[in-house]
Amino acid sequence: MGGANNESLASGFSFLSDKSEKVFVAGHRGLVGSAIVRKLQSLGFTNIIVRTHAELDLTVQSAVDAFFATERPSYVILAAAKVGGIHANNTYPADFIAVNLQIQTNVIDSSYRHGVKKLLFLGSSCIYPKFAPQPIPENALLTGPLESTNEWYAIAKIAGIKMCQAYRIQHKFDAISGMPTNLYGPNDNFHPENSHVLPALMRRFHEAKVGGAKEVVVWGTGSPLREFLHVDDLADGVVFLMDSYSGLEHVNVGSGTEVTIKELAELVKEVVGFEGELVWDSSKPDGTPRKLMDNSKIAEMGWTAKTGLKDGLMDTYKWYLENVQNIKK
Ligand SMILES: NC(=O)c1ccc[n+]([C@@H]2O[C@H](COP(=O)([O-])OP(=O)(O)OC[C@H]3O[C@@H](n4cnc5c(N)ncnc54)[C@H](OP(=O)(O)O)[C@@H]3O)[C@@H](O)[C@H]2O)c1
Repeated sequence: MGGANNESLASGFSFLSDKSEKVFVAGHRGLVGSAIVRKLQSLGFTNIIVRTHAELDLTVQSAVDAFFATERPSYVILAAAKVGGIHANNTYPADFIAVNLQIQTNVIDSSYRHGVKKLLFLGSSCIYPKFAPQPIPENALLTGPLESTNEWYAIAKIAGIKMCQAYRIQHKFDAISGMPTNLYGPNDNFHPENSHVLPALMRRFHEAKVGGAKEVVVWGTGSPLREFLHVDDLADGVVFLMDSYSGLEHVNVGSGTEVTIKELAELVKEVVGFEGELVWDSSKPDGTPRKLMDNSKIAEMGWTAKTGLKDGLMDTYKWYLENVQNIKK
C-alpha cells in the first residue's frame, strides 16, 4: 500500500522518549498483555495503567468511555480479546464475533475521542486466508476464504485492522496493527483440551514424566512446519512498532524460523526431561503442511526476534513448574 495514508502521521515522534507518559495495556493478565507490561517495566515506563476484566469490562461502551475520560492515557496497547481454539470457536461463535467486535470498537473509538496519541491493535496470523501463499506476506489478507473453524474470530479481527485504517484515514488517528505468529511463553494457556500445540505438548510430557508413563502418543506424522515466537519477543516487537512505525498496513511479527512439529515435540521432550518414548499416531490428521509468515517488512525496518526456541521453551517450562499448582485443570 502506498500513498499518503501509508506515511507517518507523526514525524519526529518517539514512544520511547518519555517513559512517564501514561500507557494503558488492555488485557494485562493474558499471555500477550503480561509480556507487554513486563517489557514496559523493564524499559523504565513509570505510568502503566491496567484494569482486570472484573474492574473494567471492555465490552461495555459506557464503562470504557468513562475510563478513558477519567484516565486519559497517552498510549494504548490493545491485547484484550476473546481467544480460543477450534472447540471454543465452534461452541461460542456469537461470543467470538460479538465480544471481539465490542472490545475493539469501544477501545479504538474511545482512544480516538479522548486524545490518545497512538494505539496498537493485535491481529493474528490465523486470520490470513486458508490457502495464503507461504511465507504469508501482509498483502495476503482478504485475498481468499478463511479457515472455517475460526471465521467468527477472524472476521472480528479483520474488522479491527480495518477500523484502525479507517480512523487513520478519516481522523488522522495514529492507530497501527501488528500481526503476531503463534506465540508461547509465561502465562500461556495449558488447558488439556483448549490449548495450542506447544503448551499442550509441554503439559503432556510433564504429566507423563511425573506419572512415570512409558510413552506419549502425539497425533499425526509430525511433518507440518510451524513458526513460533516467544511472547517476550512479541512484546519487544510491539514496543518497536509503537516507536518506529506509523502506517496503514498491519505488520507481521514472527520469528522467521520454521520447525516441524516433530522437531518441536522432541525439543519439548528434552526440555521437560521426559525419558520415555515419543510415538506418532500417523492415522490421525496432520493439519496444514506449512504455516509461516513473511517477516521481511519488520526485518527491513530493523527488528528481528532474539529468543531461540530451546531457550524460549526452557523459560516457559520454568514458569510452568512455578505455576503448575495454580493452572486451571
Ligand atoms: N496466543 C497467541 O498465540 C496469539 C497469536 C497471535 C495473536 N494473538 C493476539 O494477542 C491478543 C492477546 O492474546 P492472548 O493470547 O494474550 O490472550 P489471553 O491470554 O486470553 O488474554 C486476553 C486477555 O483479555 C482479557 N479480556 C478478555 N475479554 C475481556 C473483556 N470483555 N474485558 C476486559 N478484559 C478482557 C482477558 O481477561 P480475562 O481472562 O479475565 O477474561 C485476558 O487477560 C489477542 O488479540 C490475540 O488475537 C495471540
